[in-house]
Amino acid sequence: MRVIEAEDYQELSNIAADFFINKVKENPEITLGLATGGTPKGTYRKMVEDHDKHGTSYRSVTTFNLDEYVGLDSDHPNSYYQFMETHLFNEIDLPFRQKHLPNGVAKDIYKECIEYERTIEQCGGIDVQLLGLGSNGHIGFNEPGTAFETMTHVVELTQSTRQANARFFNQLDEVPQRAITMGISTIMQSKEIVLLVSGESKQHALQQLLTRQSDEGFPASVLTKHPHVTIIADRKALSGIPVNG
Ligand code: F6R
Repeated sequence: MRVIEAEDYQELSNIAADFFINKVKENPEITLGLATGGTPKGTYRKMVEDHDKHGTSYRSVTTFNLDEYVGLDSDHPNSYYQFMETHLFNEIDLPFRQKHLPNGVAKDIYKECIEYERTIEQCGGIDVQLLGLGSNGHIGFNEPGTAFETMTHVVELTQSTRQANARFFNQLDEVPQRAITMGISTIMQSKEIVLLVSGESKQHALQQLLTRQSDEGFPASVLTKHPHVTIIADRKALSGIPVNG
């Protein structure tokens, strides 16, 4: 795993955005895996700025998001669909039919998981997957204890994840109990992975990732087995952790 140290969140966002912009320029038909949450917001903002200023086009790009809450339809202000619309999709020229998120209100959410996998496969797999890091080591909504073999599936959210995400809702009760998420195996099948880690609150999780053996008790540790992972972390997240450069 390559680790890039950024001075602060701003620099982390610039580095990550440049990384994705260059990937899109190199391969305008790229398939990107995307994440929601606080960490990638700055990256998306920079990508939008670049699209406005320099015209980088997403006309031929395909995207797959990691996850979506069960029970929130795409119009719900807290759905990940709306998050992506607000922070990225509404602001770039990505065609509607080329963006994919799991459908959290599908009649049969289990069948939806199988179809999501099939669609990823039909598109030739994910070229570059963007990830954030949960403070308990989750990636996507794959909580500690998730088998590394899992494909897209329905998960019960842990109390700690619901509490962490309650900041986006009016109150904890409104945070859904379940989500559909790409599985760990789905994520590992991406050709390349970029993990963004920012702030002191992630320092412990990042330290675990960089120092412990891969095991299912800490989902992100699976990334040590992937041949092409770049971690972009800011100084606060890396404090006290030696970096390989
Ligand atoms: C988001 C996702 C989550 C987040 C993680 C970190 O689609 O799947 O795994 O990446 O919870 O969230 P933030 O960036 O809000 O700290």
